[in-house]
Amino acid sequence: MISRTGCAPSTTRSLLLSPLTTLRVGGPADICAPRTVEELKLLVEWCAETATPWRVLGRGSNLLVCDDGVPGIVIQTRGLDGLAFGEDGEVTAGAGLRTSVLLGRTRERGLGGLECLVGYPATVGGAARMNAGGKWGSTGQRIERVRVVGPGGIVRDLAADECRFAYRSSALAGFVVAEVVFRLPRVDEREYRARIDAIHREKAAAQPLSEPSAGCVFKNPKGASAGMLVDDAGLKGLRVGGAEVSTVHGNFIVNKGGAMASDVHELIDRVREGVERRAGVLLELEVEVWGETSVPARP
Ligand code: FAD
Ligand code: EPU
Repeated sequence: MISRTGCAPSTTRSLLLSPLTTLRVGGPADICAPRTVEELKLLVEWCAETATPWRVLGRGSNLLVCDDGVPGIVIQTRGLDGLAFGEDGEVTAGAGLRTSVLLGRTRERGLGGLECLVGYPATVGGAARMNAGGKWGSTGQRIERVRVVGPGGIVRDLAADECRFAYRSSALAGFVVAEVVFRLPRVDEREYRARIDAIHREKAAAQPLSEPSAGCVFKNPKGASAGMLVDDAGLKGLRVGGAEVSTVHGNFIVNKGGAMASDVHELIDRVREGVERRAGVLLELEVEVWGETSVPARP
């Protein structure tokens, strides 16, 4: 797939990122989707040799991609979707496997412990990188080790403690996660299914799950809920173009149809100003911004 003669990867395609993100905004990028860890390694090597910047795309459910798109190569992991079962609850999943598939296939085998993955679209790699989760736990708690491809194409296995999982962060930024090894407990399948259904119901009641969004826009400040702060500032329903602060949950911005990334950026600015004025708290972004923006991605 990858030319070793300095040519661009032969399977790269220029595509709009908007349909590849759950918020449904974002301009074009050159996308390459390796199907094996070896292809991934060659691609990252090629990027290093040609000084081509790269980023990794899972299901695009925590991204705000700018309208002009992004330079370099976007590595789409969807082809890395293997799943293998070992001894004593060991499960090895490819980075591009959907977490809903991981949940379903492990549950069928009587393996549980993945309540943290219920109620949002993600890939295994994206969930590991973000240490995604919430009050039912976080992804890193179930991870034993992670196979990554580092800058220059070096393949390494990182033990869980080397991944430094923390609230919506990990040391996996800067790597491409290729494969994740989970260790899952044996559970009673019926009880587990009932628990998962209950979490689904609770989330569907509290969050606008049927509208395009990138989940929570802001991280929760210590001891507070960003959604509650936005709500208390009276900002629910605030709209710029096709982007709206959800009337269901103040920490979601939803695309009501035809929103541009610039609309979302402006709305983020206004919400931050409103919350800072009302509560004296400067909200930090949870969504990752790709491309040029007036909003600082990481304070
Ligand atoms: P992407 O959005 O594609 O990428 C996110 C980040 O991970 C980027 O930095 C990207 O470069 C990086 N990345 C992706 N794949 C890899 C890889 N293989 N290797 C290295 N880096 C990678 N999040 C929560 O934590 N809890 C929730 O309850 C929650 N609810 C949500 C509800 C909705 C409706 C939506 C739309 C989102 C929600 N989210 C939630 C946010 C989002 O789903 C998670 O952050 C998710 O883990 C992102 O996974 P992804 O595969 O879509 O990653
Ligand atoms: N609240 C309001 N108004 C709102 C939203 C929330 O008053 O508009 C109140 C709720 O009533 C509740 C409190 O704020 O008393 C907390 O709300 P919620 O239980 O919805 O949790 P959250 O802190 O807003 C966090 C995560 C979610 C995760 C849920 C459930 C962050 C930023 N958000 O939300 O994660 O699904 O807990 O575990 O950590 C995400 O990261 O994208 C995400 C959706």
